[in-house]
Amino acid sequence: MSPLEFDASVGEQLEIMYRTRDVRRRRELVTQALGVTPGERVLDAGCGPGFYVSELLDAVGSDGSVTGVDGSPEMLAVAAHRCEAHDNVAFHQSDVTSLPVQDAAFDAALSVQVLEYVPDATAALAEMHRALRPGGRVVVWDVDWATVSMYSADPARMARVLRAWDGHLTHRSLPQTLATRLRSAGFQDVGMQAHVFATTELTPESYGGAALPVLERYLAGQDEVPVDEVEAWAADQRDLGARGEFFFSCTQFCFTATRPA
Ligand SMILES: C[S@@+](CC[C@H](N)C(=O)[O-])C[C@H]1O[C@@H](n2cnc3c(N)ncnc32)[C@H](O)[C@@H]1O
Repeated sequence: MSPLEFDASVGEQLEIMYRTRDVRRRRELVTQALGVTPGERVLDAGCGPGFYVSELLDAVGSDGSVTGVDGSPEMLAVAAHRCEAHDNVAFHQSDVTSLPVQDAAFDAALSVQVLEYVPDATAALAEMHRALRPGGRVVVWDVDWATVSMYSADPARMARVLRAWDGHLTHRSLPQTLATRLRSAGFQDVGMQAHVFATTELTPESYGGAALPVLERYLAGQDEVPVDEVEAWAADQRDLGARGEFFFSCTQFCFTATRPA
C-alpha cells in the first residue's frame, strides 16, 4: 500500500470536493476556531489547493498576510493561481517538519488534514510552535479514520476496502495523540472539539459522498483489493444510494492551542 500522492489528478478531485457543503462547513469551523482578525499574519502548514489561504486573505485584509507551505508543487500551483490577485501572500514548497519561515513570525497557524500524512507529526507541531509569536494560536484538524462507519450488506468486503484505504495515510487515528503531541511541542491551553460528518444520502455535497470517488480511484491503483472487488464495492454503494439505503459517518477533530506568552 502506498500513500496518497497529492498530484494533479488528486488536485482535480480536491478542487471539486473542497467546494462541497460539508467541506465548506469544515472551513467555517476551522476559521471560527482560528479567530483571525484584520492585520494578522497567518501560516497555513499544508495549504493544499489554497482554499483557506484565499479566504484568510479576506479576513486579514490588506494590513495582514498569509503564508502557505505545502510539499506538493501541483497543489502550490493551484493555490498560487487562486490567490494571484493578492500581493500579501507567499507560498513555499517545503515539508511541514522544516518550515522555511522565521521564528515568531506569525500570529496564528493552521494545519487541516495534513499531519495525519506526516510520519513525525510532533516535529511539524514543534515547527509551527517555533513559527508563532509568544501568545500565537494554532488550529490543527485531523480525521480519525477508525471512526468511519459505512453500511454494506457485505461487511467483510467493506472491512477489506476500509483496511486498504488506511494505507493512503500514515496515522489512521492521529487525533488520539494530538493533545499529547501539542503539549510536547510546547503548546498550552489545548482544547478539542469533535465534529461528526454523517449522511444517509449519497450526495457529493456530503463528506462521505464526496470521498467515495477519491477512495475508488486510490483503491483501483493498489494491489490490496482486486480491481473487480473495488468496482463491485463502489457499484454497491451507488445502488444503496439510489435505493435510499446509503450510510456514511466519520468523526473529525479540531484542536486549538496557544504558544505560551
Ligand atoms: C488533504 S490535503 C489538505 C489541504 C488543505 N489543508 C485543506 O484542508 O484545504 C493534504 C495536504 O497536505 C500536504 N502534505 C502532506 N504531507 C506533507 C508534508 N510532510 N509536508 C508538506 N505538505 C504535506 C499535501 O501535499 C496536501 O496538499
